[in-house]
Amino acid sequence: WGQHGHYATCKIAEEFLTEDAKAAVKGLLPESAKGELAAVCSWPDLSEIRKGYPWSSALHYTNTPNFVCKYDYCRDCHDSANQKNRCVIGAMYNYTIQLVSAYHNYGAQQKYNLTEALMFLSHFSGDIHQPLHVGFVGDQGGNLINVTWYNQSTNLHHVWDTAIIDSGLEKFYDSNLTIMIGALLSNITDDWSNEIKIWEKCNHTVCPIPYASESISLACKYAYKNATPGSHLDDEYFLSRLPIVEKRLAKGGIRLAATLNRIFDAQVTME
Ligand code: ADE
Ligand code: ZN
Ligand code: ZN
Repeated sequence: WGQHGHYATCKIAEEFLTEDAKAAVKGLLPESAKGELAAVCSWPDLSEIRKGYPWSSALHYTNTPNFVCKYDYCRDCHDSANQKNRCVIGAMYNYTIQLVSAYHNYGAQQKYNLTEALMFLSHFSGDIHQPLHVGFVGDQGGNLINVTWYNQSTNLHHVWDTAIIDSGLEKFYDSNLTIMIGALLSNITDDWSNEIKIWEKCNHTVCPIPYASESISLACKYAYKNATPGSHLDDEYFLSRLPIVEKRLAKGGIRLAATLNRIFDAQVTME
């Protein structure tokens, strides 16, 4: 996602944190966040961070072979040099383990920067819910598919990271992100309330594989569908895809909160 998508994901997550998780997150946030997780959820996208941590660029996404609409972790989670586990799923496992082991304090000495671990995990929990962050390898998750979006030249990946959200803000939410987030929170407590338990279900501490499976399936069904190179995308595409994007933002936020609640559960002493 772009900045707005990450902000919305993390703002929704903030609303569903337990007291234990809220306290632990507060303790790890940098001064600049002023106590707000959402303020730092785009931190891995800052140009200083992308330049300073060049290894991190492969950790924002994962792709399947061309036209394969099913995700296979062993086959698909690697970087372009074929290094295993170097994808968004491997990154989510890695940062979860760092946070769990430090919080439940085994291994005595602090080995990791836990502030960075929290910011990476929160960011990647958003990205894995962007359908084209689990796309086809040949078109780089839509980055190589040039399209027009209401007469503007762009690419399909950017449409899903940013353009659908921005057009939605303009058309339905008075260009106000807080109003959009409020509408998503209302949907969570009303229309989607029966689904929340299912969204949260995870028998481990973090469950990125099913999230990636959902994303590639939605990428095939909605993102790539009717969006071949040179397509002119407008109202028909926008109005049918906005509800998909909105539900992905809500799911990402609910699942980030559930993950942080499991990581920072003071009751549980893990192995
Ligand atoms: N680069 C290559 N594939 C990508 C994807 N699916 N998302 C973002 N960046 C990528
Ligand atoms: Zn992206
Ligand atoms: Zn990202």
